[in-house]
Amino acid sequence: MVKDEITYRPVSWETVDAQGIPTDLEKTRMMLNACLGHKSLRFIPRKKPFEIVEIRQEWMENNPALAHWIAIDEGSEEVIASTHIGRAIDDEHGKIAFLSVIVSPAFQGKGVGVTLCRLIIEDVLTTEAAVYVFTDMENMGMKKIVDKLASHYLVHGPEDRDGRSKYVVKDR
Ligand SMILES: CC(C)(COP(=O)(O)OP(=O)(O)OC[C@H]1O[C@@H](n2cnc3c(N)ncnc32)[C@H](O)[C@@H]1OP(=O)(O)O)[C@@H](O)C(=O)NCCC(=O)NCCS
Repeated sequence: MVKDEITYRPVSWETVDAQGIPTDLEKTRMMLNACLGHKSLRFIPRKKPFEIVEIRQEWMENNPALAHWIAIDEGSEEVIASTHIGRAIDDEHGKIAFLSVIVSPAFQGKGVGVTLCRLIIEDVLTTEAAVYVFTDMENMGMKKIVDKLASHYLVHGPEDRDGRSKYVVKDR
């Protein structure tokens, strides 16, 4: 899907490097590292750059994505946002599909986050009964995204979960 010169698509497994890591994941890693230290990242505290071995371990071995969508700026061909729904084990619900999203600071506030979240949720709800979102109560950008999702999906929440907001997103 192309919107305002931004392409939205799943990570491609067709173009990989010598270690078998998709080029898209390497570009995603570069985007994440460029974001470190930005104030919007205060809800995802992390100081150390992501290494490619970590990406391989975390995203390809420990926690393979149920879906992983990216947004690409057509001008620079760089990845400018990424959303991932992985499998997690939750104390209360057991196996869940768990969403995370990050938009490069230069592209925030333009609707990229909400577009990516809609696309990935639509994708994952074809096989999963629900998608779970956990976010800091003060993360107003994420709260706004979930509010917008509620006009397309059934959204339960926010529910206080250990000081974070929990949302459950299902098909209507
Ligand atoms: C949260 C985040 C993904 C939002 O992405 P985004 O592309 O900026 O969001 P959108 O442009 O799609 O915004 C959707 C709505 O939220 C609003 N919004 C975005 N950031 C906001 C903020 N920090 N405070 C208040 N509202 C905000 C937008 O204005 C928009 O509302 P509008 O259409 O009524 O104007 C992005 O800020 C980000 O990457 N943050 C750091 C990582 C993070 O916190 N991820 C979530 C962890 S669960």
